[in-house]
This record gives sequence, structure tokens and C-alpha cells, in this order.
Amino acid sequence: MVVTDPTMAQIGSTGRVTRLLDEIGTQYAVYDGVTSEPTDRIVLAGKKVYLENQCDFLIAVGGGSSIDTMKAVGTLITNPGEITDYFGKIIPNPLPPTFAVPTTAGTGSEATQFTIITDTKRDIKMLLKGGGLIPSAAIVDYSFTQTAPPFVTAATGLDALCHAVEAYTSRKAQPLSDLFALDAVKKIVSSLPRAFADGSDQKARESMSLAALEAGIAFNNSSVTIIHGMSRPIGALFHVPHGLSNAMLLPNCLEFALPGAQKRFADLSEAIGACKPGDSQEEAGKAFVRAIRQLCRKLKVDTPVSFGIDKRKFFDSIEKMTKDALTSGSPANTMRKVSADDIEAIYESLWNGGE
Ligand SMILES: NC(=O)c1ccc[n+]([C@@H]2O[C@H](COP(=O)([O-])OP(=O)(O)OC[C@H]3O[C@@H](n4cnc5c(N)ncnc54)[C@H](O)[C@@H]3O)[C@@H](O)[C@H]2O)c1
Ligand SMILES: [Fe+2]
Repeated sequence: MVVTDPTMAQIGSTGRVTRLLDEIGTQYAVYDGVTSEPTDRIVLAGKKVYLENQCDFLIAVGGGSSIDTMKAVGTLITNPGEITDYFGKIIPNPLPPTFAVPTTAGTGSEATQFTIITDTKRDIKMLLKGGGLIPSAAIVDYSFTQTAPPFVTAATGLDALCHAVEAYTSRKAQPLSDLFALDAVKKIVSSLPRAFADGSDQKARESMSLAALEAGIAFNNSSVTIIHGMSRPIGALFHVPHGLSNAMLLPNCLEFALPGAQKRFADLSEAIGACKPGDSQEEAGKAFVRAIRQLCRKLKVDTPVSFGIDKRKFFDSIEKMTKDALTSGSPANTMRKVSADDIEAIYESLWNGGE
């Protein structure tokens, strides 16, 4: 079964893959019911198509939403129960073969043991985990990303940047994930503004696809931290695309995390050339955060206000969002200790300067 979304089908990306299946005489069904930020219902509908057509393996053509849906459908083919049963557990059984063809340079889902599915009953984005979720193979071909409009390029590219920075500044960071994370940060800071300004810049697109994969490998082997922990609740309640909710939080969360990981942030600063020789670790770290804030401005990242989030509803939800963020476990990977009060203060800080 080919798992994809209507846009991919419409612009011909799905066709690039199904033509090859036609050529080799492999029968397939196409499930194009994926929406951005997929839900338990979308997964169930995909499972039905898979079983009705007696499929035996899966190919995802699309962004993280299509790849994650593929993983969740595959989970339900070889594991009992509903997808929500696996929240907080390790998915036990291996999946049917899964192949990922990413069309965004963002999630790195092509290389991770995670799938993120919204539980529509409880309004939470579940982070589901299992070694079997790592795709059997991935084809990372930047040409699939060239049709992405600037907004998608910026949001998904900043998601990859969050993966790399969080992986490098996580308590679970380790020497191999560090290598991938540092290289990804360098590539993204130099290539993302170019891919954003000119979507047909092949060198920039290629560099971003590679960086997103590296960042995926990095956080798959260390972890994400406070940004992703706080971002999922915003996505679940206000339907903000994943990369954008991360990007809204990115500078303020880094500012918070900095005092707990000055050496690590100084390394990142040096890697992107944001600091001067002789700067202290603290100065270098601050220079990195400033550079990332500027990058977000350059990429025209929306604020909660400009995205149209209702301020009262947001403030009324801070308690639930804080609880859900902490329950996910991601904030606890931050080197600086994170309390519920800290998280609430950061959510509130997103509104500084706007109604
Ligand atoms: N599994 C993981 O490890 C992992 C990691 C991070 C994020 N995620 C999840 O991935 C999802 C987000 O994935 P995403 O950011 O890749 O976005 P997406 O898959 O939701 O796509 C975003 C939008 O861009 C369009 N699009 C994608 N590629 C395009 C292209 N080449 N040309 C034109 N339009 C294109 C899509 O049709 C869609 O409308 C979220 O649910 C997020 O939580 C998963
Ligand atoms: Fe992400």
C-alpha cells in the first residue's frame, strides 16, 4: 500500500513512485487519506484499505505525516488492539516491510523509531516508539522536496534544526549523535535561508535533505528535549503544523536551556561561526541563540498572534499543555532542570509583544 496525502498525489510525486511499481508489475493500493498531523482515525482508515486490498508491504510518499501514518498502519497490521493502546509502551512486534520516500527536509522520520499520532479522544499528540518503526529502507532524494512552498520549507527545516540542537544539548547526547547533530546544524543554518528564498536551488535542497536525515539519526539516538515536549500540545490543541509550533518556541526555549548547557551551546555557536575568538562560553552560547532568533525572523516564522491563535483559549489551556508536555518525558532530557512553572512561563512568553 502506498501511503500519501492528496497534495502529493495531485502534484505527481506519488505518480513518480507508482509508475515504477507499474513498470515492475507490482500491484498496489493507494491510501491518500493522510492529513497534516495524522490522527488515530486516519490510521484506522489506512488499516482498512491495507486489509481490503490484501497488501503485504508499505511505501510512504510524503512528509512526516505520511511516513508516520505508514508506521502506525504497519503497527496495527502486526500488533493487536488500537494505536492509542501503545502510548507509553514499546511497540512489540516487527512491522511489515516499510519504505519511506520523504518529500520534506524536516522530520527525519525516515530514520527514526518514532511515530507521532494524535489521540482524538484526549486531544494529545502521542509519541509512539519501537525499534520496528525504523523503516526497512528510505530513499532520500532531494528532488522530491523541490515543490515545497516557502512556508513548508521554513517550518520543516526548522523542525530539523530543533532535532539537531535538542539532540546536541540533551542529557542523552552521546559521541555519535553529536557528530550527526553538529553537522546538521551547520548545514541547516547555511542552506535553509537559500532553500527558503529560492526553492529551485538544488544545492541548498540537497544539503537540507541530508541535514534532516542526519538530525533524525541524531535525535533517534539521543532524544529531543524541551522544544518538542512543549510543541506537541500546541499542535494537538491549536492545529499548528509541527515545524511551526517548534519554531515559535525555538528561541525562547533555547534561552531557557542555555544556562544548563553553556559548553554545548558554545560548541554550536562555534560550528556556525556565530561567536568571536576569545568569547566566553556564556557569550558564545548567547550569540548562538541570537543567531537562531535572527534566522527565525528571516524565515518569517509566525507568532501565535499572526497564526491566529485565540489568546484566551491558549491561556486557558496552559495548565493542560504543561501537564501533557511533562508527561511526554521530553522536557526532562533538557540539561537544565525544567519545572512546571518554567514551562508555563515559556508558554506565556510567546505572547510578549502581541495580543
Ligand atoms: N516520526 C518522527 O520521528 C517525527 C519527527 C518529527 C515530526 N514528526 C511528525 O511529522 C509530521 C509533520 O511532517 P512534515 O513536517 O514533514 O509535514 P507534513 O507531512 O504534514 O506536510 C506538510 C504540508 O506540506 C505538504 N508537502 C509536503 N511535501 C511537499 C512537497 N514536496 N511539495 C509540496 N507540498 C508538500 C503536505 O502536503 C502538507 O500539506 C507531524 O505530525 C510531526 O509530529 C515525526
Ligand atoms: Fe520534530
